[in-house]
Amino acid sequence: MNISILSVFPSLYKDFLETSLLKRAQAEGHVSFTVAGFTDFCTPKERLDGPTAGHGAGMAIRPEVIGRAVEHFEQQHGVAYRIFLTPQGKRLDQDLVRDIARIIQEKKHLMVVAGRYEGIDARAQEKYVDLELSIGDYVLMGGDLPAMVLLEALLRYIPGVVGRSESVEKDSFSGPFVDFPTYTAPAVWDGKAIPEVLLSGNHAVIDAWRKKVAVEKSVKKHFEWVRSHCIQDEDRALAAQSIPPHYIVLMHDEVILEPGVTGTSSVTSLDIHDIARSAKTYGLEGYYLVTSLLDQQAIVRKILEFWETSGIEYNKQRHHAVSLVSLMGSLDQVMEAIERKEGKRPILVGTSARKCSGVRQITYKDQDVVWKEDRPVLFILGTAKGLAPQVMERCEYVLAPIEGFLKFNHLSVRSAAAVIFDRWLGINLVKLD
Ligand SMILES: C[S@@+](CC[C@H](N)C(=O)[O-])C[C@H]1O[C@@H](n2cnc3c(N)ncnc32)[C@H](O)[C@@H]1O
Repeated sequence: MNISILSVFPSLYKDFLETSLLKRAQAEGHVSFTVAGFTDFCTPKERLDGPTAGHGAGMAIRPEVIGRAVEHFEQQHGVAYRIFLTPQGKRLDQDLVRDIARIIQEKKHLMVVAGRYEGIDARAQEKYVDLELSIGDYVLMGGDLPAMVLLEALLRYIPGVVGRSESVEKDSFSGPFVDFPTYTAPAVWDGKAIPEVLLSGNHAVIDAWRKKVAVEKSVKKHFEWVRSHCIQDEDRALAAQSIPPHYIVLMHDEVILEPGVTGTSSVTSLDIHDIARSAKTYGLEGYYLVTSLLDQQAIVRKILEFWETSGIEYNKQRHHAVSLVSLMGSLDQVMEAIERKEGKRPILVGTSARKCSGVRQITYKDQDVVWKEDRPVLFILGTAKGLAPQVMERCEYVLAPIEGFLKFNHLSVRSAAAVIFDRWLGINLVKLD
């Protein structure tokens, strides 16, 4: 297999390709490299770049130079899979690395084009590119480090390049979880000992420990990756065990009735069973309904009684969901109930349809911030016009509002609950097998 690299500064690759595993891979014939500069494809006195069309400063790499380079490389090594590095490209991750590795093992020729300045003339890129690739959402001065990043990741999948191929398959991001933590001698360093289990000599016990720790770490620190890669049921079950317990409370007390006026709202049967169904679907441990009004409590009891008795026959699934629901007289009672069950006070996470000031706002990518505290999580949802200021003030965090791109924002609380659960706890696969 040949890898052709086209760069403004080909000399940057010299040490890179003559070091360690890459050097050995070439010596053993697993891969060969052809590195060339754009200027190698310029005619005498021709520049490799030209001013960008339209107003504004900046130079771009000229299209004819690219055309000649592609022709030259492909005459030598056959038709290539052509990757142009650009910050606007598809973001590189382990899935994409594996896909590219598969393609180039068939094609046997990869061409990597590293841009510089304002980039490459768009017409040449459009004509020759198979994959526009970015190494992340930031802009570097040139595509050479991205090219090296790509090669370091890619070549691990080329047979013979890395000694033990099973270690590649087990490394972080090859499945839904990251790798387990590694230790080496000395047994105690800086007052910290290597976990005892690793010195037990019992491989089965060590494997179980490693899996557990890897899953915990993945869920707590890389939930976005886990939720987008947990395809198998057993992986989902493992991940679920590492997610801290979540609860929801729907407040019918301490809610805003109109600007500056707080009070109570009426319960609805729909909010009881629909939110319960969503809560059950996303693995919440409990759904509390708060109203201090006795007549409202009587209505809730009647609804719950139905689902505990004749409702079982009517709709068993809904009966299971509604069994999550408990009636409470205040938010404090809810917190005490959770603390009794979990042994820790819950973290209060408020919700609002509007941006809130004076509270710690979090987004739906901040699970790590909340979960690192290792406490149960309680989502607080309001009815009427939202949670009263005194409830918001008690929240340790408030989730960013759920919004569309338009100004209209009028979700029912049961819709909002479903969106919140999905965004915070839901599976969101990026591929299906
Ligand atoms: C200064 S950048 C050009 C940025 C371009 N004007 C833009 O805003 O999209 C010059 C070159 O660096 C490389 N480059 C910069 N950041 C990159 C990234 N995150 N991933 C891949 N290549 C990158 C590309 O080859 C690009 O053509």
